[in-house]
Amino acid sequence: MNDTFYVTTPIYYVNDKPHIGHSYTTILADVLSRYHRLLGEPTFFLTGTDEHGQKVQKAAVANKMTPIEQCDTTVVRFKELWKKLEITNDDFIRTTEPRHKNVVRKILQELFDKGEIYKAEYAGRYCTPCERFFQEKDLVDGELCPECKRPTDKIIESNYFFRMGKYQQWLIDHINSHPEFIQPDFRRNETLGFLRKPLEDLCISRPKSRLEWGIELPFDKNYVCYVWFDALINYITGVGYGQDDAKFAKWWPVSYHLIGKDILTTHTVYWPTMLKSMGVEQPKTIFAHGWWLIGSEKMSKTTGNVVNPMEMAEKYGVDAFRYFLMSEMSLGNDASFTEEIFVTRYNSNLANDLGNLLSRVVKMIGKEAGGIIPAPGAEMEHDKELRETVLDAVSAMEATLLGMKIDRGLEQVMTAIRAANRYMEKTAPWKLAKEKNTERLNTVLYTAAESLRIISGILSPVMPAKMCEIRKAIGITDNQIDINTLKMWGKLQPGLKVVDIGSLFPRIDVKGEAVKAAKSAETVAVAEDLITIDDFKKIKLQTAKVLEAEKVEGADKLLKLQIDVAGEKRQLIAGIAQFYKPEEVVGRTIVIVANLKPAKIRGVESRGMLLAAKDGKTLKLITVDGADFPTGCSVG
Ligand code: ME8
Ligand code: MG
Repeated sequence: MNDTFYVTTPIYYVNDKPHIGHSYTTILADVLSRYHRLLGEPTFFLTGTDEHGQKVQKAAVANKMTPIEQCDTTVVRFKELWKKLEITNDDFIRTTEPRHKNVVRKILQELFDKGEIYKAEYAGRYCTPCERFFQEKDLVDGELCPECKRPTDKIIESNYFFRMGKYQQWLIDHINSHPEFIQPDFRRNETLGFLRKPLEDLCISRPKSRLEWGIELPFDKNYVCYVWFDALINYITGVGYGQDDAKFAKWWPVSYHLIGKDILTTHTVYWPTMLKSMGVEQPKTIFAHGWWLIGSEKMSKTTGNVVNPMEMAEKYGVDAFRYFLMSEMSLGNDASFTEEIFVTRYNSNLANDLGNLLSRVVKMIGKEAGGIIPAPGAEMEHDKELRETVLDAVSAMEATLLGMKIDRGLEQVMTAIRAANRYMEKTAPWKLAKEKNTERLNTVLYTAAESLRIISGILSPVMPAKMCEIRKAIGITDNQIDINTLKMWGKLQPGLKVVDIGSLFPRIDVKGEAVKAAKSAETVAVAEDLITIDDFKKIKLQTAKVLEAEKVEGADKLLKLQIDVAGEKRQLIAGIAQFYKPEEVVGRTIVIVANLKPAKIRGVESRGMLLAAKDGKTLKLITVDGADFPTGCSVG
């Protein structure tokens, strides 16, 4: 056993830019690393990119680049995103780097020399997107990939194989005797289920005639190494295996390989047997988290619902995005992402609970204590209660971190924040000030500020920048936080000067139409940039004539229009009241999205959406030239 903490993310393919799923695993690894540093443990956090193989070669061809140009271009997108998201990885490994390639070759040669790798003729089915071989018997409907259900290709060729099959019983025994090896438990059962069938040897080569982009086998220059056999090795080359024995001994075995559930088999079957055959110790824990769904759908380029993490961070702030991902997904299970869910959680946890607590405490101290953290007097019942709740939240966060239930720990911290807000209401410092009860007032203000010190400390791994701002607001200038000072009440020094830093998490406006507008605009904004003509054809644009218009009561942005579309009367709500008077739009021929799902806006039925052009503060309707153009005509 060692007392260091080493955590990895999958190394991501560079066939495309990163999406919300990649950012989730990397933020999770970052949060774990930051917590372990806070606990005082030496920590190493490795991430990187998987740059060989068919996927990357294909993307390069499609983008008219060489494979290495494809890698060099895309890796920048990952590195920039990690910088933006405040990721504190200690190293970033690319599988095209010599430090990795050389060691992979060395390992291949050693295993070949030991007879762990042999050559044989192979007939089977290959799934290109998954980069995996399957047996005929495992195919779905006789020809589809059992993993992704896409067509497979028939292949007969000579290849090199790793003797994986002979480790089957050893692996089953290892899994059974190390319950922490595969987590959560239901994933362990999934792997054990997989191991009930005979375990085949693993094809670890690709003939260059079929795939050139890979590490050449040291014992046969007509082949390159199978991408997974190459990629998994990053976890050891990244900490010095085969190059720096002291470094490797310091960090290995890894504490956590964090992965998504999609790559469970490669990590819990291929990788352990590879390590076994190399004579290297097993990982402590392989932890597979669940899937981010978009609403209830799988994220996919074809449906265009791919969420771009860079845009989310730009729009809502890095810390809020990190907090959302960590608190919304309970580790192991799937979670659903929509901007609506995001905004709801943001407004309630961050704007209302935490932001509000900070601003009222800082304002109160500013107003009633001359902006200086006062020294507390005797502790009373309410103070004790809050102190205990806050300190309990620290212990809970530590325990849930070690048990990989971070979302629950965060929930408990939120409970402490709400308790602090209630404490302010119960103790009513403004009244104490009026009554000139200075000693009691000082105790209350100190207790509230001290709660903020501890809460911001324990949340700092999740929201590093915003929690620094809280510290600054209560007068703390250094940012060295360690767990011991968070477990001790009374560490906040009386006499510090509070600073009004303004609103920490400004509320996101979610009034009726604003949400709808933001949501529909957003779906477009976060989607992939390009659509096909078929996508465009789904939108039915038509001309329509405005017959009547009036304001919607209680909504100063909305007009209610009665329109004519080829003789059919429709009602449509439009957010144009600040730009057009009702009488200005009557009689105009406008363009509408005719096949938009009917919706209720402020309780009023709306069928369709009109088109308008917007430039900051002005808005102009899209109208049809010529007064007597018929309605119901297609536009496009
Ligand atoms: O599989 N929800 O790379 P990859 C949550 N190169 N996490 C998701 C996700 C989603 N919807 N989509 C992706 C590879 N992920 C190999 C790995 S490791 C030696 C080689 C995350 O680019 C999740 O961590 O396809 C998943 O396992 C990983 O991205 C797959 O990334
Ligand atoms: Mg994948």
